[in-house]
Amino acid sequence: MKKNILVTGGLGFIGSNFISKIIKMNYNIVNVDCKSYASVDPDILKFNLFNNYKFYEININNYDDINNVIKKYSFEKIIHFAAESHVDNSIEDSLIFAKTNILGTINILESYKNLESNKKLFLHVSTDEVFGSIETDRFNEISSYKPNSPYAASKASSDHFVKAYFETHNLPVIITNCTNNYGKYQHKEKFIPTIIKSLISRFKIPVYGNGKNIREWISVEDHVDALIFLINNGKIGESYCIGSGEELSNIELANKLCSIYDKITNKTNSNSLISYIKDRKGHDFRYAVDSSKINKLGWKNKYNFNDSLENTLLWYLDNKDFLT
Ligand SMILES: NC(=O)c1ccc[n+]([C@@H]2O[C@H](COP(=O)([O-])OP(=O)(O)OC[C@H]3O[C@@H](n4cnc5c(N)ncnc54)[C@H](O)[C@@H]3O)[C@@H](O)[C@H]2O)c1
Repeated sequence: MKKNILVTGGLGFIGSNFISKIIKMNYNIVNVDCKSYASVDPDILKFNLFNNYKFYEININNYDDINNVIKKYSFEKIIHFAAESHVDNSIEDSLIFAKTNILGTINILESYKNLESNKKLFLHVSTDEVFGSIETDRFNEISSYKPNSPYAASKASSDHFVKAYFETHNLPVIITNCTNNYGKYQHKEKFIPTIIKSLISRFKIPVYGNGKNIREWISVEDHVDALIFLINNGKIGESYCIGSGEELSNIELANKLCSIYDKITNKTNSNSLISYIKDRKGHDFRYAVDSSKINKLGWKNKYNFNDSLENTLLWYLDNKDFLT
């Protein structure tokens, strides 16, 4: 018999890539999403064509709404993606980040805690940004939390609540702290789609500050595989850092995308479009994680960075509407 699994934020970038994979597996999927500006059009995703998929347009900030769905299906597993996810927006206005990322998460935890049936897993999809910035070395699961942006602070807070529900109520939780993702269906506000959009329209490519800030980039396909691996193999009560080891400064990434774009389209000198802009407030210098805990458990990233980046660029070239 298929198991009931709740996915929150399954119309978002990572959530939709996750559903694309598990929809072919042995699950009845319920996706709850409020269809925020960051969500992907369900008509593009076409999950409705599968009879093991149901969608509810629900805001997780409303306890009764999310509680009704959780009670109705008695989920064995919950995979929690729904969040406000863009750092720049959190700098402009933090309130919605506190509402969705903290209160919304507590609503689900509280509802799941109150469910009497066979609860197996609440998987909280979090970020490496909760640890703050690191000059050398890498963050791991025992690194202290030191969030700097309001986004990171809201995710850090939600991580603490998840841990508290494990310690206090014995709720079966796992937390993942993943590095920056790239791939299809990422909203145009994020760095890689922004670069691609500028390349296509021949606008300036905005790069914050001196471009030297470093990020570790993982294919969304690898992230999703890691989550599926942890659903089956992760240890309850544990956190896992998920990364690829692929570190680049923002300017290196912009230059790399320019040269891939030039190669594909026979254009030249696209990197002359790169333009430095005023730095982001409180801009973290570097994020990098040590993935050895999940690697030792048996998962390792497998997508080649250059190939996946090129495939991402090709996907956006085929789906230009996604950037408008
Ligand atoms: N994108 C990354 O690089 C990255 C890296 C590590 C962790 N994460 C985490 O992964 C998760 C998913 O990130 P993403 O990039 O796919 O985000 P996204 O912004 O692309 O998607 C978020 C989805 O959540 C939905 N949502 C937002 N508020 C909601 C609410 N109140 N009720 C119901 N649904 C709501 C949106 O409609 C959207 O479909 C987030 O929790 C994020 O913190 C993201």
